[in-house]
Amino acid sequence: MKQIILTGDRPTGRLHVGHYVGSLKERVELQESGLYDEIYIMIADAQALTDNAEHPEKVRQNIMNVALDYLGVGIDPEKSTIFIQSMVPELTELTFYYMNLVTVSRVQRNPTVKSEIQQRGFETSIPVGFFCYPISQAADITAFHATKVPVGEDQLPMLEQCKEIVAKFNSVYGETLTEPDIVLPGNKACLRLPGIDGKAKMSKSLGNCIYLSDEPEEIKKKIMSMYTDPNHIRVEDPGTVEGNPVFTYLDAFCRPEYFEEFLPDYKSLDELKDHYRRGGLGDVKIKKFLNNVMQEELRPIRERRKSWEARLPEVYELLKAGSEKAERKAAETLKEVKHAMRIDYFDDGNLLKS
Ligand code: TRP
Repeated sequence: MKQIILTGDRPTGRLHVGHYVGSLKERVELQESGLYDEIYIMIADAQALTDNAEHPEKVRQNIMNVALDYLGVGIDPEKSTIFIQSMVPELTELTFYYMNLVTVSRVQRNPTVKSEIQQRGFETSIPVGFFCYPISQAADITAFHATKVPVGEDQLPMLEQCKEIVAKFNSVYGETLTEPDIVLPGNKACLRLPGIDGKAKMSKSLGNCIYLSDEPEEIKKKIMSMYTDPNHIRVEDPGTVEGNPVFTYLDAFCRPEYFEEFLPDYKSLDELKDHYRRGGLGDVKIKKFLNNVMQEELRPIRERRKSWEARLPEVYELLKAGSEKAERKAAETLKEVKHAMRIDYFDDGNLLKS
């Protein structure tokens, strides 16, 4: 069986370091592993519109931002096909057929949908399109016969729902669709990176993000203002490492060689944590170290991003070619789907057959 990756992000803002450790980094590793026959990375503008119907301009503007973020982290257009969701209308048609295989109550139970409805204050006025986005996401995944879907942990319920749709479709219409698996980062600290304010999630609306495109000074300012252990007041005080964002970031970003380079008094993160727990280690010292680490990690991304930003017509061309390629693939799958459902009436005069 072919090994195929499909994944994507909504273009509602620039991507941040939470996206990076939560999934983008994994995607680049999978891309470089050479184990995949096809890789599709989708800019999910149609999904972004499901809760931004009044702000198409915002979605439009962020398409390039997300494309540049992808190219910045090392998604290689020679190896991965980057495309724009709405440029593949077959996805919408698949969604329409899959909608009949899912109940309203099943979508209502989807934990991600539930929490998003709350966050957006949609309780009494859920747009139908928004409500259906898990079904459209199943269309995105199955249209490419994806076997692997590297995404953030918050997307697990979407993958569960997709698998159910695949099982239902195959049992009703015959074996047609491919069941996908989620790929999550192995490092626990990467699963859900907290905001710089210590809130559970890094999110644009909370204003607690470090963006992949942030300049060095901004990164430094954000890190030096980070929330730490509120009970660690004087340097001598014992501190808590668990749930302390500064350490979570180090868990997510630090490589062993950074100690020798930036903090040679310590050999490892464990040693640094032990000292913090004992007391006698100030927050400023750790933040300075974290800043050095993050600067090292983000510099190549920002520079690569800038080099693409200077060649926007090339990015435009690769999105266009990527979208055409993605459409060809999705059209094939749509054909298979319609054949399985026996609604391919005009193929080989099928409507005349019993
Ligand atoms: N829901 C994803 C997000 O919020 C975007 C997305 C749309 C996606 N379709 C997908 C992710 C299919 C993986 C597979 O960013």
